[in-house]
Amino acid sequence: MNITAIAGSIRKDSYNMQLAKTMKERYKGKLNIEIADIGSLPFFAQDEEHNPPQIVQDFKESIKHADGVLIVTPEYNWSVPGVLKNALDWTSRVDKVLIGKPVMVVGVTPGSAGTLRAQLHLRQILSAPGIQAELLAPGGNEVLINFAGQKFADGQLTDEDTLAFLDKRVDAFRDFVKSF
Ligand code: FNR
Repeated sequence: MNITAIAGSIRKDSYNMQLAKTMKERYKGKLNIEIADIGSLPFFAQDEEHNPPQIVQDFKESIKHADGVLIVTPEYNWSVPGVLKNALDWTSRVDKVLIGKPVMVVGVTPGSAGTLRAQLHLRQILSAPGIQAELLAPGGNEVLINFAGQKFADGQLTDEDTLAFLDKRVDAFRDFVKSF
């Protein structure tokens, strides 16, 4: 099962990128996760949407050919970071590669709320007419990881309870992707 992962932080020591890498490694028997480099995408420009730069075309192709998409995002000012919104805007025009694509959302913060507001906002964005992704239903499947400082070590998620919880959500996502 081929999954394109999008991490919404380009910070060097990003917890969310650490989480994406943890998931890529931990689930490699179940999911073939490729992490997209959205930090290198140019700002979306409507004038270029019919003939976007090669890096944008490659990004859209990777989503088009993936069985599903994993979004791993921090919360910035109660919403998603601009780098993630920019990537999603590119997907939403001309060749609308997220339409009907199964998507799982996860996120991590050092604080207490675990990206709750960002994920609520992200779900709204992913339902826009140009995106219309198929979201893993929230009931029980939200992955809101808080207090990152206590749960990550040596560049990866190490908290056993969180990993056990994540295992179940990933199994649910695999079933969800298979249902398409
Ligand atoms: C934040 N942070 C943050 N945290 C949160 O829980 N809710 C929020 O609204 C915000 N807003 C916010 C805005 C900006 C501009 C920054 C830089 C940070 C804190 C944020 O969760 C923290 O920096 C994370 O470590 C960012 O994720 P990465 O880079 O570790 O993946």
